[in-house]
Amino acid sequence: MIICKSRDEIRKIGEAGQLVAQVLSKMKDLIKPGVTTEELDQFAEELILKSGATPAFKGYRGYPKSVCVEINECVVHGIPDSRRLKEGDIIGIDVGVQLDGYYGDAAVTYPVGRVSAEATKLIEVTQQALFQGIEYCRVGNRLSDISHAIQSVAERNGFSVVRNYVGHGIGREMHEDPQILNYGPPHQGPLLKEGMVFAIEPMLNCGTYEVEVLPDNWTVVTRNRRLSAHFEHTVAITDQGPLILTELF
Ligand code: MF3
Ligand code: CO
Repeated sequence: MIICKSRDEIRKIGEAGQLVAQVLSKMKDLIKPGVTTEELDQFAEELILKSGATPAFKGYRGYPKSVCVEINECVVHGIPDSRRLKEGDIIGIDVGVQLDGYYGDAAVTYPVGRVSAEATKLIEVTQQALFQGIEYCRVGNRLSDISHAIQSVAERNGFSVVRNYVGHGIGREMHEDPQILNYGPPHQGPLLKEGMVFAIEPMLNCGTYEVEVLPDNWTVVTRNRRLSAHFEHTVAITDQGPLILTELF
C-alpha cells in the first residue's frame, strides 16, 4: 500500500532531506586522495547526531556503519573501512537519516581528483537519468513512467541499468511501497497521486547490468568489475509537480 503524505508530513520529510543534503554537500570537500572511507563515515555520523537526527542505515538489518560508500566497481552497500581514496577513483556516498519520525535518503557519486572520460560520462549520465525519472513524478503519470525514463537515458548513452536493486517509497519508514524499478515499459503500475514520496535511485554500470554480492554479505559489485555510479533523491509528488526534498533549498 502506498501511503500518501500530508503537507505537514512532506515538510518533515523535507527537514530530514535537508540534513541529508547538507551532509552530502559537506562531505564533498573531504573527497580527496588519502582520506579513508571510515573518516568519511565518522564525519557524517557526527554531523547527523549533532543535528538531532539518527543515521538511518546504522543497525538496519545489522548494517554496521552510518553511510554506504561505493568505490569504482561497487554498486551499493559498501561498508566504510580503512581503505584510502586515490586519484582517479569514483565514490558514491549514500546517506539516510531519521529526524522527528521521518526519513530522508539520498546518494551522489563524486570523482576523486581527475578521473577517466568513461567515469566522467557515467557520473553525468547517471545523474541525468535520475533527473529524467524525477521529471515524471507528476500527478496522473504511472509509476513505470519513472522507470522507463531512467532506462531510456541510461541505454541511449550506452550504459546498463542494475536490475537487482530499486528505489522505494519513504516516510515514517525508510522503505515503504512501492518498489521503483529503474527499467521497464512505460504506463504500467499505480497512478501517481499528490502526497506520494519516493526515493528514486538509479544505479548504472559500464557493460553488463549483472552484479554480485561479496562474502561480507553487504558489498554489491559489478560482475565485470567495471565502474558503477549511483544517484538518489527523495522526491514528493505535489500539485505543482515534483519537489526534490534532498536538494539544498
Ligand atoms: N539507499 C539505500 C536503500 O534505500 C541504502 C540502504 S543501506 C542499508 O536501501 F544499510 F541501510 F541497508
Ligand atoms: Co534509498
